[in-house]
Amino acid sequence: MDKKIYITRKIPEAGLNLLREKGISFDIGKSKFPPTKKEIVKALKKKPYDGIISFLTDPLDKDIFNACPTIKVCANFSVGYNNVDISEVKARNICVSNTPGISSTAVAEHTVALIMALTTRITEGDRFMRKGKYKGWDPDLLIGTDLKNKTIGLIGVGQIGTEVAKMLHYGFGLNVIYSDLVQNFELEKATNSIKKEKSEVLKEADIISLHVPLINSTHHLIDKKSLASMKKTAFLINTSRGPVVDEKALVFALKNKIICGAALDVYEFEPKLTLGLNRLSNVILTPHIASARQSARDMMAEIAAKNIISAFETGKVINSVIN
Ligand code: DGY
Repeated sequence: MDKKIYITRKIPEAGLNLLREKGISFDIGKSKFPPTKKEIVKALKKKPYDGIISFLTDPLDKDIFNACPTIKVCANFSVGYNNVDISEVKARNICVSNTPGISSTAVAEHTVALIMALTTRITEGDRFMRKGKYKGWDPDLLIGTDLKNKTIGLIGVGQIGTEVAKMLHYGFGLNVIYSDLVQNFELEKATNSIKKEKSEVLKEADIISLHVPLINSTHHLIDKKSLASMKKTAFLINTSRGPVVDEKALVFALKNKIICGAALDVYEFEPKLTLGLNRLSNVILTPHIASARQSARDMMAEIAAKNIISAFETGKVINSVIN
């Protein structure tokens, strides 16, 4: 196939092999870290690429497509695609795909791990030990929170939210409540869960976990007001997208014990941390690694490559994000 694509950063061989088999040539950005828009524009100006494999850190907007107007397909190497200017690609008739499904279990497991780490105070205990603060068994030391019979409140119950609910319900005996635009009958049947208004979920849950895409209506979905409506003993978990939470409001809430704790894998100003976040002992921070499994990365590469191939062969991607 006489087609060439640009891949903004290295992806696993599993995907590259599929492209090679089809005779699709590619150039790969050299940087280990997210390239700037300027760097992507510079690279794209070198050749009339037919497509691009992009990362969630690459802003795909007017400037990018002006730099390389021959691009007809973008395969995003992630489930989330908030880095893509959808109205721009629609106007240009560019197809866009993501990598749905394959990392749901990994992200759900990471979410549950964060919940466990918060409620058992594992990271605090680890820091305590390393600092040489342990002077002998103390019944009052680092008292945790029971999970059994507590209530998990899920905001968003697509594949990831549903898996989190099942793991917590079957594994640890939590009750499940959720809010979503649509009713999830399968989840309700499996976990006896109840759909509620977001405001009710925030008020009633002991743990709130966010599983929504980042779109206009979910930006700062968790703000000062919603944090104030949560229980003082509640925990907030975010493994979705950083800007879903107003982090300045979160730092205030954590500092002033408006909620009990939080665990974040994604950040409003990623990779930067909101001022004060790293000083709080009641927050756990991981560097956007919820889906970081080799199996998931390999499959993401394969799916991205298959979408590129499909676009060239049929004019359509398999996992279109444009409706
Ligand atoms: C995704 O796929 O959107 C994750 O955030 C990164 O793997």
